Amino acid sequence: MAGRIRDIKVTDEVSFPYIFEQNVSVPLKSASTQRPENVIRCNVYRPRTGDAGKVPVLVTYGPYGKDIPYRDFHPKSFAEVNPKHKSEHSCWETPDPHFWTSHGYAVVRADERGLGQSPGFLDTMSRGTSEAFFDVVEWAAEQSWSSGKVGLLGISYYGGSQWRVAARRPRGLAAIIPWEGMSDYYRDRCRQGGIFSNGFIKFWWDRQVITNQYGRPGRSKSQWGPDTIEGDLSEEELAHNRRDQNVDNAENKYLDDEYYASRDFNLGDIQVPVLSVANWGGNTLHLRGNVEGFFHAGSELKYLRFISGRHDLPFYYDEEVAVQQSFLDAFLKGDDREGWSQKGKLPQVNLLLRKGNIGVNDAEAEKGFQRRTETEWPIARTQYSRFYLTPSYTLQTAVPNYLEDVSCSYLAPSFDVQNPHKIQFVSEPFTKETEITGHITAHLNVSVEKLPGKGDPSEIDLFVTMRHVYADGKEVFYTGTAGDPVPLCKGWLRVSLRKVNEQHPWHRSWLPRRDYLSTDVETVDPGVIYPVDVEIWPTNVVTEIGSRLIFEVASGDTQGAAVFTHNHPTDRPLEKLQGVNHIWFGPGYENYVTLPIIPERQ
Ligand SMILES: *[C@@H]1O[C@H](CO)[C@@H](O)[C@H](O)[C@H]1NC(C)=O
Ligand SMILES: *[C@@H]1O[C@H](CO)[C@@H](O)[C@H](O)[C@H]1NC(C)=O
Repeated sequence: MAGRIRDIKVTDEVSFPYIFEQNVSVPLKSASTQRPENVIRCNVYRPRTGDAGKVPVLVTYGPYGKDIPYRDFHPKSFAEVNPKHKSEHSCWETPDPHFWTSHGYAVVRADERGLGQSPGFLDTMSRGTSEAFFDVVEWAAEQSWSSGKVGLLGISYYGGSQWRVAARRPRGLAAIIPWEGMSDYYRDRCRQGGIFSNGFIKFWWDRQVITNQYGRPGRSKSQWGPDTIEGDLSEEELAHNRRDQNVDNAENKYLDDEYYASRDFNLGDIQVPVLSVANWGGNTLHLRGNVEGFFHAGSELKYLRFISGRHDLPFYYDEEVAVQQSFLDAFLKGDDREGWSQKGKLPQVNLLLRKGNIGVNDAEAEKGFQRRTETEWPIARTQYSRFYLTPSYTLQTAVPNYLEDVSCSYLAPSFDVQNPHKIQFVSEPFTKETEITGHITAHLNVSVEKLPGKGDPSEIDLFVTMRHVYADGKEVFYTGTAGDPVPLCKGWLRVSLRKVNEQHPWHRSWLPRRDYLSTDVETVDPGVIYPVDVEIWPTNVVTEIGSRLIFEVASGDTQGAAVFTHNHPTDRPLEKLQGVNHIWFGPGYENYVTLPIIPERQ
């Protein structure tokens, strides 16, 4: 057992251009009993303003270690960060204290409960941890040096956690900028289309969460921040003090399971101004949550900005920091230079238009993508247009007319990302430049057939992808999360979870609403054809004359999945999935992709 929680806060006023306080303990108000472990530890960085100056505060709360330097956490990434945001205290995916203190903000960087120097139960993305975050926000607003206004700014985990805490409305919270931050734990991150997205969760948990658990021995030796103030914990104590996302997500399947239900919250409860920043290339984790978070946030003032490029770098680009600062100055300093605080003054949506084949992971080239503003999302003038699949593997706008039933087929399941079982439907070359921006759905008639000598399959997992092929026949790739090549967009659906709740207020013709309840499960019998509507994540592309789109259907992850794979042995067992999957064509069997085509403004 580690000793009593020590109060070892130290203030350093001389070594840096700002005041640095390390290991500050924030008491937890919502704690049911006054146990010693009920504190969150944070670092505070604040401008030297003298006694009189009170400053607004930027808060982050998350797992990656308030004291693990960015240069140790990810040296390759750190080497490429905008030098203006590199300092002694730079830290992965968070605002740089040197930069923000020099612009009149205090930065409070908290270790999440059970991680780094914060004792307590480690249960990432849970209600309990959001309550602790809530206390940190209110604490930051109450400090003598604080102006009482708190903003949230951070990438990924430090973005996703913002939606959850903002929905609880802590006092002092004035604005949030969830930067590539998913908002729906089940649909965005853990069970895409109902299928366990285990690959990323394992990578993430093993590399950068469990390695920083409070009490974990050997951190300092492996250059992973300092050891725990109260000392090491035994392996047994460590295991007792945590819930493991790998285990929890494998064991829980439905949104009415207590595990998922307890993590649910209502985006509509968010009231503070929101600037949601969505990356078109983040099409396997965060993108959906930024778009849906913006759409459903209850805030009077909310904005949606699209970017491209890697997950780690654009947050620090000069032009993106200028947007962050302008937005935060408006709501935290009362200095609104552009009109963010006047409803209707600024267009809500700032699009980035992906046109041309400019290569992958080339920040300079991507700066050539044009921007256009829109007053709403999805764009009101969208023409939802059907592109029909045909058994000759084409996509066409004319309604096909077939006299007999035929199918296109592929084997299931598929676990080889390089060489998956898949079929592709290719459009005619575009005869004019065409913009596609928004939500895509696919309507398919699918069945599974038993393989000779094998058992009856009882499930179909659909993996669909939209690809863009240039006039020269080469596929156009976009920059993915880690700088890897990704296609336009993807979608997933487990056919036993096909049930759509059309009565739900969030159901849209362009985004079928699924509740994913245990009571929604419907059987999948071999040889029976099921009509399904597959949600595909939002996207944008401006196709040029001669380029084509490809709609791909597969029985497992395909190109662009990177670490975001779905191949957990108990979630996708052979006994359930093994067979031949069919898409059926014929009288009464239409299959189509509905694309959001944007006509030019009149
Ligand atoms: C904060 O705690 C860590 C871990 O014990 C320690 O390495 C560091 O020196 C502490 N900071 C200060 C200023 O005492
Ligand atoms: C296939 O989909 C069509 C709509 O395209 C639907 O009307 C029909 O009922 C489905 N076929 C079967 C056999 O379920």
